[in-house]
Amino acid sequence: MNNYDGLWLKSLTKTLLDCDTPLQAAEAELADFFRRRDAGERFELSVDEALGEGYCVERTGGVYHLSGGNTGILYGAYDLIRELHNGGEAEKLASSPRYPLRMLNSWDNMDGTVERGYSGRSIWFEGNRFDYDPERIRYLGRLLASAHVNVLCVNNVNVHAPAQRLLTDLLPDLAAFAALLRPFGVRLMVSIDFSLPLSSGLQTADPLAQEVQKFWNETASIAWAAIPDLAGFLVKADSEHRPGPNAYGRTHAEGANMLGRAVKPYGGVVVWRAFVYDCLQDWRNVKTDRPCAAYQIYQPLDGDFVDNVILQIKNGPFDFQVREPVSPLLLSMQNTNTALEVQLAQEYTGQQIDLYAMPPMWKEIFDVLPAERIQAIAAVSNLGRDYFWTGHPFAALNLYAFGRLAWDPAIDPAAVIDEWIRLTYTMPDTDREKLLTLLLNSRHVYELYTATLGLCWMITPHTHYGPNPDGYEYDLWGTYHRADRNAVGIDRTALGTGYTAQYPPELQAFYENRETCPDELLLFFHRVAYDAQLHDGRTLIQRIYDDHFEGCAEAEKMAETLQSLPLPETDRQEAVKRMAMQLKNAREWRDVINTFFYRFSGAEDEQGRTIYP
Ligand code: GCU
Repeated sequence: MNNYDGLWLKSLTKTLLDCDTPLQAAEAELADFFRRRDAGERFELSVDEALGEGYCVERTGGVYHLSGGNTGILYGAYDLIRELHNGGEAEKLASSPRYPLRMLNSWDNMDGTVERGYSGRSIWFEGNRFDYDPERIRYLGRLLASAHVNVLCVNNVNVHAPAQRLLTDLLPDLAAFAALLRPFGVRLMVSIDFSLPLSSGLQTADPLAQEVQKFWNETASIAWAAIPDLAGFLVKADSEHRPGPNAYGRTHAEGANMLGRAVKPYGGVVVWRAFVYDCLQDWRNVKTDRPCAAYQIYQPLDGDFVDNVILQIKNGPFDFQVREPVSPLLLSMQNTNTALEVQLAQEYTGQQIDLYAMPPMWKEIFDVLPAERIQAIAAVSNLGRDYFWTGHPFAALNLYAFGRLAWDPAIDPAAVIDEWIRLTYTMPDTDREKLLTLLLNSRHVYELYTATLGLCWMITPHTHYGPNPDGYEYDLWGTYHRADRNAVGIDRTALGTGYTAQYPPELQAFYENRETCPDELLLFFHRVAYDAQLHDGRTLIQRIYDDHFEGCAEAEKMAETLQSLPLPETDRQEAVKRMAMQLKNAREWRDVINTFFYRFSGAEDEQGRTIYP
């Protein structure tokens, strides 16, 4: 079953399917919107290339004058529709993006699976080739344009063999796919395999070897001849067993720059991921601390990257956990283009079963990260072929809000959630407010029962859903909590692993000091005894018990609220079904984690609630 009309924009106008340019798409959307609105208003469009991706709207009488750059005109059309739909006046609107590169990274494999995908199979790959409904791709383009996302990376950063063909015999298919998205201002990016020269018959992939540079120059020239507006290459190198320049004794800068030079003549960029760490660590080793890795590798290279290379850095130093401090690398690369990478796919955050609205979490990032420290923003996609595109109907909020954040990182979390609800559902104000509160609190609730006080990685290995406190404890991935009968957590201060020294001095002092370190990051930065007192006077062990009981009780309340909301029947059924799974998950987390710590500490719950022995 396909719900092409799903998500926040309803019913695609049929004319939109034939549009060739963003201007035509803007005209079709506005004509359709004003026809339905039936208020006698009109609109006039003019392209002003100088406005680029920006736009201005001015109303005189009943006429909306919209001018915008080539794609700005379409963004302006969507924003005008949003404002009017949500009850605004739209007398005057003017906007332009904070970041020129607002990218969705799909982790789609060519066999149709999606790595860490929780919304069904790939929308465009199946059977090791492109396989899609062109109409659905037009809807996808519209969806992305309406959120102002302008680049889509089509394939997984882990480039498996079939995807290497995207730049060879499948290039014409890639070009046809790009053409479907072009009217929506969406350009493509391709994840490449650093060792592609080897599988293409060369003896080496050494970035300093002349034949390798020549190979990539030719590869780029062929790719851009087929797709002149290709955005660039995305690269995961020397990370989790992917090939990279280190095998040849070369640095990441040498690897990235070689590719940067190849794509430079066409205006392309190389997005080089900084997700690099020792993934074969011995748990006995207490000196190596995974969160330190990216900074140690990349900070010394600051200033060494050519100007069309962008270093893409995950928001936290670990890997998309529920709660992490901002990656110190993001704060320290003064002379390198950087991109922030967030994950919409809820790998560690409930897998589109448990509710988890991300805007409050992103606000915390930008509270610490000055917007001008980065030049681009990327998100791992949560899309798939499911009826609701994002698995859970409410998970679409995260995609929508990501686009809004990339346009303007100062967005207010509550405002953007409210905006999405109004665009998606029609319901009385009191119900809308209930849904808003539910979504706004959803991350906090999930955090309470899965990752209290910054204690992450207690998830089931590999699947990353459900509790398993020792699942990764004796493993290779560097994600230890080191709980014993007295204490839990890792000391990352100067006296411990030294991680805090990677922050600018004020933040370093802030996190280093137990008094100022926020409770929610306490066990990320410090090793704390169970009987230590926290800011609110409770002991650590009591707080661990309380949070798990509270998280579960809050989830139960959320379930009740959800039941009472007047949602469309298909959405309601899906949301209720998933909420039942969330409750089961929350109870499991509560009991497993509480028992885990009870067995270690022997401490009774002050409130005498059930903790299984
Ligand atoms: C996580 C995730 C992997 C992914 C990796 C990445 O570790 O579990 O599936 O490949 O991140 O970001 O490259």
